[in-house]
Formats: sequence, C-alpha cells, structure tokens
Amino acid sequence: MTIPIVRTIADLRKTVAVWRQEGLRVAVVPTMGALHDGHLSLVRAALERADRAIVTLFVNPKQFNSAADLVAYPRTEHEDAAKLAPLGTHILYAPHASEIYPEGFATTVSVAGVSEGLCGAFRPGHFDGVATVVAKLFLQTGADLAFFGEKDFQQLHVVRRMARDLDIPIEIIACPTVREEDGLAMSSRNVRLSSSQRQAAPKLAAILFDAAARIAGGTPVDAALDAARSAIAAAGYARIEYLELRGEDDLAPMHRFDRPGRLLVAAWLGETRLIDNVGIPARPEAITRAAA
Ligand code: PAF
Repeated sequence: MTIPIVRTIADLRKTVAVWRQEGLRVAVVPTMGALHDGHLSLVRAALERADRAIVTLFVNPKQFNSAADLVAYPRTEHEDAAKLAPLGTHILYAPHASEIYPEGFATTVSVAGVSEGLCGAFRPGHFDGVATVVAKLFLQTGADLAFFGEKDFQQLHVVRRMARDLDIPIEIIACPTVREEDGLAMSSRNVRLSSSQRQAAPKLAAILFDAAARIAGGTPVDAALDAARSAIAAAGYARIEYLELRGEDDLAPMHRFDRPGRLLVAAWLGETRLIDNVGIPARPEAITRAAA
C-alpha cells in the first residue's frame, strides 16, 4: 500500500480542484513528520470528518530557535509515508523548501496576544514561523478543516487567531493529547531521551494532573503551582521554563480558578525540552469558592 507524495503547489492544487468539482470535503493535518500515534490520531479524526485528508510534512526552518535543533530534528519521510498509507490518507504533501520559501520570500505572519508568554517568551520568533507556514499550508491546500493536537495548546490558539484574522475559511479542530501508557505526552522529541530520562519523563504529566486536581478541588492556584514546581525539580527536571494556569478560551493568565482553565508547563530534562498541558473545566462549586 502506498500514498501519493506531492511536492509542488501546482500538483497539489490540481488534485484538490478535482476533489472540489466532485463536491468533496477536504481536511489537512499539518506536521513536521517523525509521525507518532498522536499525529495518527489527528489523521484518523480528519478521515472521519472529511472525504479527503492531506497530511503535510515540512520541517519549517522559520520556527526553530536554534540551528542545532533544526539539524537534529528527525527526518523520517519514508517511515511516515508507510504509517499514513494504511490509514487511507489521500495525499502526503511534502513540498520542496523552495515551494514554501521561494527566493525573495519576505512575508511574516505575526499573531499578537496569544503568542506572547509561555513558549512565546522562551522561543522568540517561534510562533511567527508557525503562523507563517500554517497560513501558507492553509492557502495552498484550500482545506475546509484542519486538525491540531492540544499538546501544543498555545500553537492551537495562535493558529485559530491567525485563520480568523486573515479570513481563511477553514475550521480548526482540536484533538486531545495522546499519551504513552505511563502518561508521557507523545512528542517527536521523546526519542532524544536517554533510558533514565525516559523513566523520569512521565512524572511531569503526573505532577501536572495532580496540580490540576488540587486546583479543581479548591487549593489556591499559587500554592498548587509552588508545590508542583518543587515536585518537578525533585523529579529530575533541571529547569522549568513555565508552569502557569491560563484561561482555556483566551489563554489569559489566571490567578484564581474562577472559569475553565488550562495548566501549561515547559521543562527541560537534560537536553530535551518537554511541554504538556491539562484542561481544568470549571466546576460550579470551585467557582463559588473562588469567588467567595
Ligand atoms: O506542530 C507542528 O508540528 C508544527 O508546528 C506545524 C503546525 C506543522 C507547523 O510547522
């Protein structure tokens, strides 16, 4: 079983135009490859909701902060194609770099507000790179639906804002984070963990879920976060970039749990930066207690 691999915008548009004439609904799943079960869950969701699914594979240089990180990013197109074909994915769009950033390319899409703080504070320019490439992928594919994982929760907000602000007629669908059996959020970067780091890694998710449960149960936000920071350090994480409660719908900082929130973390285990997040739906009694 094979999957057609498309390299140029012209070929992509020819195929999508035929689908459009047939009245088919088209979905896109943007990726940078090194596909794991988290990505495949997005593809399955896309195939359930649309008639045709395009997976894009482009390791976007504009969203990397360090040249070394870009070079080290896993490139596994052959294996990725082999994972996508049996699912029934219709196209793998793996464009040449010159299709995305041709000679003279000079435009940056920059989303204010939701891209500030959290990862945006530690990865300057990252979300400009993401917004720019995703805007291009939306316009090149002309898809009706786009699927993103909640694992990159801030990215999801940036992409939603960008599509809304630029009037790109596409519905953004968020899919839950897929975890390993021990709770570690799936990520293409997990392969970089040594075996002892891999053992310590899931503690981040466990601490996050525990802090979320405490906040939902009425523990003041700052106290729950302080305890979680100590636990993350004790688990062997060398550096915590951020651990914050933000609004689920607007990503605004929250110091009291008085509406649905999202607890987000980024921390380093050795040379590997891991991110994770968990939603805390508002419970009426928690809101009453916080407001009292
Ligand atoms: O989440 C990713 O893999 C990337 O940021 C994306 C959305 C494919 C843009 O390059």
